[in-house]
Amino acid sequence: MSSSIIRSQEQHKVFVASSDDSKICVVMVGLPARGKSLIAGKAMRYLAWVGIPAKVFNVGTYRRSNTPQPQATFFDPHNEEGERMRRAAAEMAVTDMINWFHDDKSKGVVAILDATNSTKERRKWIYERCRDADIETLFVESICDDEELIMNNILEVKTDSPDYQGQDPELAALDFRKRILNYEKAYETIDDNEKHYTYVKLINVGSTVIINQIKDYLSSRLVYYIQNLHIKPRSIWLSRHGESEYNLTGKIGGDSNISERGEAYARALPDLLRKSGIPPNTKIVIWTSTLRRTIQTARHLKAETGFEKLEWKALDELDSGVCDGLTYEQIAEKYPDDFKARDDDKYNYRYRGGESYRDVVIRLEPIIMELERSENVIIVTHQAVLRCIYAYFMNVPQEKSPWMEVPLHTLIKLTPRAYGTQETRFKADIPAVSTWRGKGTSAKHQEFPADKEEKTH
Ligand code: F6P
Repeated sequence: MSSSIIRSQEQHKVFVASSDDSKICVVMVGLPARGKSLIAGKAMRYLAWVGIPAKVFNVGTYRRSNTPQPQATFFDPHNEEGERMRRAAAEMAVTDMINWFHDDKSKGVVAILDATNSTKERRKWIYERCRDADIETLFVESICDDEELIMNNILEVKTDSPDYQGQDPELAALDFRKRILNYEKAYETIDDNEKHYTYVKLINVGSTVIINQIKDYLSSRLVYYIQNLHIKPRSIWLSRHGESEYNLTGKIGGDSNISERGEAYARALPDLLRKSGIPPNTKIVIWTSTLRRTIQTARHLKAETGFEKLEWKALDELDSGVCDGLTYEQIAEKYPDDFKARDDDKYNYRYRGGESYRDVVIRLEPIIMELERSENVIIVTHQAVLRCIYAYFMNVPQEKSPWMEVPLHTLIKLTPRAYGTQETRFKADIPAVSTWRGKGTSAKHQEFPADKEEKTH
């Protein structure tokens, strides 16, 4: 399948759409506690972010409808009743998935079948069900012998899994280990007899990757994304540049210097970062755009910490085309139809001679790939770009992301966890204007009071 840009009738709007109707079922494979759900969840978030309709079908969730809290013996391959119930859950999930693909309303392109799918027989059955329904399969096997990674997963399961809710965490961990042993009895890794399948084998999440028979563009994009993932603990910090001269006058775009208060924020940033909590001996790479205001904001941070710094063109602010250098009021006056069109569909509206939020997401894709490969990074960038990056990590829908408030002089710390991303905000005690504009208003940039309050979500 290939991707193409289709220009709609409406001026300045473009949509990325698939040029054919291929459908892909990503079939997760592997023993419990090998990070399958983490990979499935991340792939799902990535696809939603790039605008590809995707859904995870978790067989465990179906199984819980008839066996909510099974003991390890339920998963013994010699337990006939257990086998029957597990097979029934897989049936339900696959049937729902096929219906989802064929339901005109869902417009499904990628389904992720999250289960162990750990026998050849099970994989053959899924492959044939999909083939008969005109759905491509992409098997993703996660193999892991790193005890630390497995332990981390077991720890998360014993506290977070609905299978063990309300149970003693230590007994839960013990039972879960027995469950893994039961799965090991029947587990068959994908091997040469399955060479006719499209598959990727991930060994210790990202350290070794084996790829077989990738046939289409979307699958190769997905595989490229998955092979960049790692699960080492790390954080990503996001900050807008310090208040700029353009911010003070309410103008958008441009390449102005930071204001006096912006400079104060730049000086405060190293301390703010330290206070946000950095484990000892942690190296953080500083990323900025190529525009003056972000480079100036990161200047003291670089000088004080000696951290490596990279400038990315892809992190430059959304290009506002002919509106660059105007205030929102001037845009509303000069281009009233455009101003309204942007309010009506801010994500898709493309400035004359400039960009839309959708365009920014497309140019940020390599940044996201690089971020997934990297460990600790602080990104100093701009309002629209920061909204797009934040939306990726926090799974914010496209219609909401362009309207999010991301105040100046605030450091956002994001820490990925197995089932989502933890966010903490740190405000510097340095006032700045607010550049946020509500729908239907042409508000001037307002003075925004500083406060030191920290917010955790
Ligand atoms: O006002 C600051 C700014 O970074 C502008 O340069 C940019 O055009 C704007 O924010 C993006 O925000 P919005 O999409 O809400 O107009």
